[in-house]
Amino acid sequence: MKQERFDKIIATQFNISRKDARIAIRRGKATLDGKVLRDFGALVNVESDITFNGQALNYKKYIYILMNKPKGVLSASSDKNKQTVVDLVPEHLRRQGMFPVGRLDKDTTGFLIITDDGEFAHKAISPKYEVYKSYIVTLDGSLTDEMVKAFAEGIVLADGTRCRKAELEIISDNIARVKICEGKYHQIKRMFGVVGLGVNELKRESVGALTLPKGLEEGACIELSTEEIKVIFTDC
Ligand code: URA
Repeated sequence: MKQERFDKIIATQFNISRKDARIAIRRGKATLDGKVLRDFGALVNVESDITFNGQALNYKKYIYILMNKPKGVLSASSDKNKQTVVDLVPEHLRRQGMFPVGRLDKDTTGFLIITDDGEFAHKAISPKYEVYKSYIVTLDGSLTDEMVKAFAEGIVLADGTRCRKAELEIISDNIARVKICEGKYHQIKRMFGVVGLGVNELKRESVGALTLPKGLEEGACIELSTEEIKVIFTDC
């Protein structure tokens, strides 16, 4: 079974700094298997019976939060002036080192994972793993079958960058579903720019086979288990 330093376990699982964890442990605030443990450097089995300030620990190596990102909030961990998606994560789900997996523009809404698992984030973002992201796009003009063809062939952006093949599905005259498996800067907006349309609204509805739950309001989030998060890597 996995062992970790006692201060690291307390800091990550109860969302406090390592320094504060050490001070609290020294003061006798943490127990291991029913007894106070003041040795913050002790190597401890992560699945032991641990409490901190009387609260029992349910050890999770990483945390995965699914947020319905609202407009006007930055996809970042922190910012001096602006509110970020991590600021919106409720206190009890927050952890040091959390970050959003990929970036949605400030005015984009919808599906966003926030985690502290770097390996997972890399796999979800890297085009190599071909995880498709699906967006609902409202445009300022009419969609055509030629545009569907152009997206399927791979759009070349104004600066010469070639995009991978994308799926464009016409839902109504000016609303489309677009699926891409890469995340270039402002990619959807720039792809539509090439075919002469502007984006009025952009919402991400799913990543891989995992879709934003219907009842999840903008700004709200839910925690996903390691089993639930794996659905992202299932074909959709
Ligand atoms: N493409 C964009 O243009 N913006 C986003 O936020 C996501 C994809």
